[in-house]
Amino acid sequence: MEGRIAFLPGDGVGPEVLAEARRVLEAIGEAYGHRFEIIEGAMGAGAIESTGESLPEPTRELVSQVDAVLLGAVGFATQPTDPTVTDPAKGLLDLRKLLGNYANIRPVAVSDAILDRSPFRAEHIRGVDLVVVRELLGGIYYGLPRGLDHGIAHNTEVYTEEEVRRISKTAFEIARERRKKVVSIDKSNVLESSVLWRRVATDVAREYADVEFSSMLVDNCAMQLIANPRQFDVILTNNIFGDILSDEASVLAGSLGMLPSASIGGTVGLYEPVHGTAPDIAGKGIANPIGAILSVAMMLELTFKLSAEATAIRAGVDRALAEGCRTADLRSDGNGQATSTSEMGEFILGSLAASKAS
Ligand code: IPM
Ligand code: MN
Repeated sequence: MEGRIAFLPGDGVGPEVLAEARRVLEAIGEAYGHRFEIIEGAMGAGAIESTGESLPEPTRELVSQVDAVLLGAVGFATQPTDPTVTDPAKGLLDLRKLLGNYANIRPVAVSDAILDRSPFRAEHIRGVDLVVVRELLGGIYYGLPRGLDHGIAHNTEVYTEEEVRRISKTAFEIARERRKKVVSIDKSNVLESSVLWRRVATDVAREYADVEFSSMLVDNCAMQLIANPRQFDVILTNNIFGDILSDEASVLAGSLGMLPSASIGGTVGLYEPVHGTAPDIAGKGIANPIGAILSVAMMLELTFKLSAEATAIRAGVDRALAEGCRTADLRSDGNGQATSTSEMGEFILGSLAASKAS
């Protein structure tokens, strides 16, 4: 098959991890006979410097002409002191809106090979395998009115029934492919928007009688994620709660560098590692490329429906970890040499060829 992919490396470690993701994608194309056309675009702090905008017009144009978007990370290396300067995050919010991607999928699976990296005891987190399904285009991120004026600031949490219904359906569809369990998160003891959220999610649950459903208050969920993480399969949440809970859940996996994400539901899927630009380690060639590489696997599966290829990438990552490849973020002791970004990519590439041949 043929596919066109917008490639947006962005800032900090973004270009380094995306270079490895690209090599893996090209190797998959070669091994399985697909042609991926990869077209690079500017976005983030670098784009602000050269064009004044985080998501410049040529990049908007580009993403309207492709099948999928692969993004590294965006952000300033140091926060500018001038508060009127556009934040690179604004470009990401604009991109999500432009593509219409209302569903953000963040899987968190704890790999046995790096159990020792977690701040939790191995027996507490072994086998954790959950996915956060976060509403991405609504809620307090975009709600109007909003403003900051004369020492008073306000933002508005708005949800319509339709917005809650469509993301709820996404969560239930995903649950059907997994362990068939959805927990919907809200703060319905305080917020009207959450009363609606709970009512609609409960209503959608009736259409999925084969899926176990419950609602949980967000403060309790924050606690349960730490106290008993294995209880979760699919966590259905609004935009802001999902932002916070997915960072919290990522700690279970040992390193933020491991985690991929997909933003779907609109015209074109957007795939990116969960981690940010990591300016403290940028340019050193030591960042973990696994989150970016697993984002390619999600892209192959969700946009291009190539599950065998996605499975091969995941197997390559598992093999690299099982054989002891450890970027600096995955090392629990100071002994020996850490695997570099490109060595990790190289190893995963090598095992792709091996798994295809076998
Ligand atoms: C994320 C990030 C973004 C968000 C920021 C950079 C706008 O934290 O993808 O989780 O809050 O959605
Ligand atoms: Mn976040």
